[in-house]
Amino acid sequence: MAESFRAFVVNKTEDAFEAGVKELSRADLPAGEVLIQVVYSGINYKDGLASAPNGQVVRKYPFVPGIDLAGRVVESSDKKFRENDEVIVTSYNLGVSHYGGFSEYARVPAAWVVPLPRNLTLGEAMTIGTAGFTASLAVHKLEVNGLKPANGPVLITGATGGVGGHAISMLSNLGYTVAASTGKESEHAYLESLGASEILSRDEVSAEGKPLEKERWAASVDAVGGNTLAYLIRSTKYSGSIAAIGNTGGPKFSATVFPFILRGINLLGIDSVSCPMELRLNLWKRLASDLKPKNLAGMVEREISLEDLPEATGQVLSGKVRGRILVKP
Ligand SMILES: NC(=O)c1ccc[n+]([C@@H]2O[C@H](COP(=O)([O-])OP(=O)(O)OC[C@H]3O[C@@H](n4cnc5c(N)ncnc54)[C@H](OP(=O)(O)O)[C@@H]3O)[C@@H](O)[C@H]2O)c1
Repeated sequence: MAESFRAFVVNKTEDAFEAGVKELSRADLPAGEVLIQVVYSGINYKDGLASAPNGQVVRKYPFVPGIDLAGRVVESSDKKFRENDEVIVTSYNLGVSHYGGFSEYARVPAAWVVPLPRNLTLGEAMTIGTAGFTASLAVHKLEVNGLKPANGPVLITGATGGVGGHAISMLSNLGYTVAASTGKESEHAYLESLGASEILSRDEVSAEGKPLEKERWAASVDAVGGNTLAYLIRSTKYSGSIAAIGNTGGPKFSATVFPFILRGINLLGIDSVSCPMELRLNLWKRLASDLKPKNLAGMVEREISLEDLPEATGQVLSGKVRGRILVKP
């Protein structure tokens, strides 16, 4: 490993915010048992926030964002990992309070490291990233709560985003009838290519409505929150479930108790960050087998370098990106 390496660093002082590529040295990296050469990272909504002046994700500046990374072990003081092992790191404090994946090198606790499963490349793992991992956790929780293809259609909201696209692809591979809602009229063909058979507009799924509407969805995977989550609660079928993942449409929602006490619906919270390691390892194995999206390459909008991050993270925050942007440090 060279004396110095490149990383995308954000810094905020009382009167200024800076974001750009800087040279760091090994001593700048946080503590951890495993040093990794990052081969790929990817951009998630949280990385957009971490790279913006008022994103309220970064706990201490200066900081290296990037909540996802995949690469090769350079050295490890933990016996579980050896030089050249291919690994994935997502979740925990990565890219939030511990320097993340927008860097040529990262050092992390061994307890965060997932061996790359067979049948996945490092690039594929980062096309999946936190977005796909979270979608797989949602699918798992919906299955545990009784979802089966025969129960009826499943609606995916924020469908052209990372979580949404993966959820469509996984559920359609598993034999579900999948509907998708989007604010991007130009992307209907993309959503159909992932496996959506019905497409709703963002307006339709965020409108106000009665406390109980027509029972329509056996389940949903919701990346949007806000009024959209309120719509899902009103329109979920008897005993159906909603996997609540995100808040790109806002954190607050208004609902009544009626769908819960008259239809027995389940509102399932999804938190990928603190998912226990045993379940995490199982889900990564599934992501390399029955949950592996068929057209992973088609989900990559583009591949960028560290220098392109300011523009790309801004596009993610404005909801303009389709699928995933891969970062090659
Ligand atoms: N709970 C967890 O563990 C966890 C893990 C990962 C992500 N998340 C959260 O899940 C959400 C989605 O993450 P992601 O990585 O998929 O983000 P993303 O790739 O940026 O996609 C978000 C999608 O949300 C839709 N959207 C954007 N702005 C919107 C608005 N104002 N109103 C309604 N819809 C809007 C857009 O889809 P359309 O244009 O197709 O509507 C956009 O593509 C984020 O809130 C993220 O923080 C949570």
